[in-house]
Amino acid sequence: MKMNKRIKINPFAYKVDPINETISNPDTHIIRKLSSMKGQYADTKSYEEMLLKEDRILYEVYEKLVPEIEGGLLQGMSIVHPGKVGREYFMTKGHFHLILDTAEFYYCIKGNGYMMMENPEGGWAAEELSPDTVLYVPGRWAHRSINIKADEDLVTIFAYPANAGHDYATIETRGFRKLVFEENGKPEIMDNPKWIE
Ligand code: 6PG
Ligand code: NI
Repeated sequence: MKMNKRIKINPFAYKVDPINETISNPDTHIIRKLSSMKGQYADTKSYEEMLLKEDRILYEVYEKLVPEIEGGLLQGMSIVHPGKVGREYFMTKGHFHLILDTAEFYYCIKGNGYMMMENPEGGWAAEELSPDTVLYVPGRWAHRSINIKADEDLVTIFAYPANAGHDYATIETRGFRKLVFEENGKPEIMDNPKWIE
């Protein structure tokens, strides 16, 4: 859902509800299921077995929409549920912004995880997310939220330029260079065996 670019909007305020993991009067509620992550998990066998049992909800997003024009800021809440596909944690699809040089602000209000990031120049970074962590994702860096807890949602508030757009295709075809697996009960960052140069 998009808001007409010509619409003039008035100032608005809304509540973040960390208990119910939502925001007041969201304009959208995006639900991403296991089936939308085909090819993103290293352990294809576990992925297929899980999908056969249930097309589980991996994460949800609530957005406050604004006209997608330069200067505006799109905001919302992202909730990654706990779980694993094989030894790999539940995560978001991940994306570059269509306007590559557009940054993003994240504030973690609940849970523990990583923001996996990479840029076209070969750089990668994995910042830990925990309550009250503020993360700045510079322009050019693709970003994916990863929940490393077994029993708690990873909840973040985000804001990014309203005209940024989303490039999912690059990540869907190449994947992220690095993935996060559970090794001896702890998260471990490893090379993505399926990553395409
Ligand atoms: C954005 C934000 C953020 C992101 C969600 C879901 O650019 O909109 O990065 O809202 O969309 O965390 O992640 P995916 O967009 O990768 O599914
Ligand atoms: Ni983004």
